[in-house]
Amino acid sequence: MNPVKVGLIGFGRMGGFYLEKMQKSGRWNVAYICDTSAESREYARKMAPEAKIVSDEQAIFDDPEVQVVGLFALADSRKEQIKKAFAAGKHVIAEKPIAESMASEWEMVELAEKVPLFSTVNLYLRNSWYHKTIKDFIHQGEIGDLAIIRVCHMTPGLAPSEGHEYEGPAFHDCGMHYVDIARWYAESEFKSWHAQAVRMWNYKDPWWLQCHGTFENGVVFDITQGHVYGQLAEVQTHNSYVDIIGTKGVARMVHDFKTAVVELHGVSQTHRIVRPYGEKNIDVLCQRFAESLETGVRNRDLPCFRDAAIASEFAWRFLEDARGHELPAIGTLSELDAILERRRTMKNGYGLLHKQG
Ligand SMILES: NC(=O)c1ccc[n+]([C@@H]2O[C@H](COP(=O)([O-])OP(=O)(O)OC[C@H]3O[C@@H](n4cnc5c(N)ncnc54)[C@H](O)[C@@H]3O)[C@@H](O)[C@H]2O)c1
Repeated sequence: MNPVKVGLIGFGRMGGFYLEKMQKSGRWNVAYICDTSAESREYARKMAPEAKIVSDEQAIFDDPEVQVVGLFALADSRKEQIKKAFAAGKHVIAEKPIAESMASEWEMVELAEKVPLFSTVNLYLRNSWYHKTIKDFIHQGEIGDLAIIRVCHMTPGLAPSEGHEYEGPAFHDCGMHYVDIARWYAESEFKSWHAQAVRMWNYKDPWWLQCHGTFENGVVFDITQGHVYGQLAEVQTHNSYVDIIGTKGVARMVHDFKTAVVELHGVSQTHRIVRPYGEKNIDVLCQRFAESLETGVRNRDLPCFRDAAIASEFAWRFLEDARGHELPAIGTLSELDAILERRRTMKNGYGLLHKQG
């Protein structure tokens, strides 16, 4: 097979990851990179000298040789780009969320399910080795009946007002991944929930939220997510895990962004597996997408637009639920200013965006 010809739109932090993985794989020909920022285009020229670097996305949609478009700008432009891509007969790899409002997200789901083209969205946890290992273990019956799903992700990551304003507060922007993975484990739909949040540093939106509840099949969950984890600590750290509890055994995972450790305590098997974390698993996503194009059969592990819309919708619902309860404000905006100042000058921190010109 010839490499798949692709145009990337949006060359910030995520766009850079896709380029790197696509270049490494040998299965992709990155023919175009589009970004509205001159600084990002300059950077793209350096990183992809063979590609056409453009500021107008139309060049990509108009090129009949481009098979796939990668939509890695922000949520405010995604809907129009998805519409243009499908209209031009191109397959789509989209970042999440797939649009900037629920109505538009559902519109995009309907469209994607109508067109004879492949699409996927980067719900990256689904492409990870550690969640797949745990799910296989559950399916083997090793933990008995799945009963409790506990998910936690707290890092000193993207701070309020740094970027991603169209993606919503931390529990929507980042938290939708954890909402999605809980649903993926449960293999059922959310039924009931109660959420508690806090407006850290007196910011207008909650930046930490915990939600617990049930799925239709009776499985219970708790999800904790926050980018509020010791931003001003001398040495920063994070806490990220899943804890999956069945009627007979447990399976869990913890990672430090470099290495993931899966511990499986089943009725007949006990394992401790330590492997590289795998970052955003973009190599896996791109490989599954390229294979789908080659074989004409969509890889069923690829997350679809519907999965993304459901995760987005429930992340918003949990935020809305939290706003209906006590919503304390703790800390001051001057602490937030100190955090933003620290992140502006950091070279190696959690979720730092590329600086824009
Ligand atoms: N799946 C994940 O794990 C994950 C992680 C982080 C971010 N994201 C998503 O990826 C997207 C990009 O995030 P990021 O962290 O790379 O942000 P970023 O700010 O680093 O990059 C966005 C880039 O898009 C460019 N851009 C904005 N509007 C544009 C337009 N209309 N046309 C072309 N270029 C445009 C900007 O100039 C910038 O270079 C966001 O929607 C975010 O929600 C997903």
